[in-house]
Amino acid sequence: MSPPSIAVLPGDGIGPEVTAAATRVLAALGDFETSEHPIGGASIDSHGTALTDQVLEACRASDAVLLGAVGGPKWDAAVAEDPSAPRPEQGLLGLRKGLGLYANLRPVKPSPALIGASPLRPERIEGTDMLVVRELTGGLYFGDSGREGTSAHDTCVYSVVEIERIARVAFDAARVRAASAERPAHVTSVDKANVLETSRLWRETLSRLGGESPDVELDHMLVDNAAMQLLAAPARFDVIVTENMFGDILSDEAAMLTGALGMLPSASLGAAGPGVFEPVHGSAPDIAGRGEANPLATFLSLAMLLEHGLGLSAEAQALEQAVDAALEQGLRTPDLAPVETLGAPTPELPAQVTVGTEEITLAVLAELRG
Ligand code: IPM
Ligand code: MG
Repeated sequence: MSPPSIAVLPGDGIGPEVTAAATRVLAALGDFETSEHPIGGASIDSHGTALTDQVLEACRASDAVLLGAVGGPKWDAAVAEDPSAPRPEQGLLGLRKGLGLYANLRPVKPSPALIGASPLRPERIEGTDMLVVRELTGGLYFGDSGREGTSAHDTCVYSVVEIERIARVAFDAARVRAASAERPAHVTSVDKANVLETSRLWRETLSRLGGESPDVELDHMLVDNAAMQLLAAPARFDVIVTENMFGDILSDEAAMLTGALGMLPSASLGAAGPGVFEPVHGSAPDIAGRGEANPLATFLSLAMLLEHGLGLSAEAQALEQAVDAALEQGLRTPDLAPVETLGAPTPELPAQVTVGTEEITLAVLAELRG
């Protein structure tokens, strides 16, 4: 049997640094075949477009895709000068649409060693463990848009079929999480049904599916209230399911609960075919090339790839544990709040040491081999 094939798309900014680190970790976990391809600004520079047909085909032919990040000021400047210039983000959107990746899973669970890094008080963040399920191929991102003289429009369209399939992903995920935690499954559906017609269709559809799934506790929340509740009582959420744009915004907010955007992984899945696994953080052009980038979100995305993409749960778990162990040793990349800003160090915790990409990667590798 040939080894699983993984298409690696480093992208821009710190993308190449974190995916290179993840490729080393992958090699320590077993026999995998990797191939590297440009996306985003890197692809614009070499091919004039953010995603070529060849790269999309290579991804489609792989078992899973690992992505770094796309975008940077260089290409933003080109677009500012000429609005028809290609944008790096088009590569990401093209990949999502091209592979039919309608379900974006973003787990938010603060790592125990990093509880103090949250901007919220530890007692408020305590017990937070949620999964944001974001619809990824519909809504405002893919509706008709355009300019007419001095006005512009973007259109939000959702069909029942699109809503049903993302709702099922959320319900199933809630069941799996509930089974392992031995508690009832809980889904919060987020919409703006007091204003938007697409949201009313969303709520109707979710309610109907909820009625057919008595084992899942379903509630509905308006998006503005959800933004508030995420800060007021984050631990009350289990699975959140929402449309594309709301999910984009709420998942960044939820990510910040951990105080460490550099820690959060994501998976984008379709009905069949390879998924795309990527850190939630962006390309961080300000620190690119300095060896300071935090590769842990990419490692955790790799763990999701192993689990969801390849069905290798044992390897996925080993990697997650190695990441936690490196943090428990006190190792911190500069983005993770340094202890000086948090007052006196707690006596039972090891001293924290600020390290770069290389050191923390070596620590995770050592834990894996340990
Ligand atoms: C994300 C990002 C993308 C999005 C951008 C880069 C197009 O913010 O994955 O959340 O808006 O979906
Ligand atoms: Mg976003």
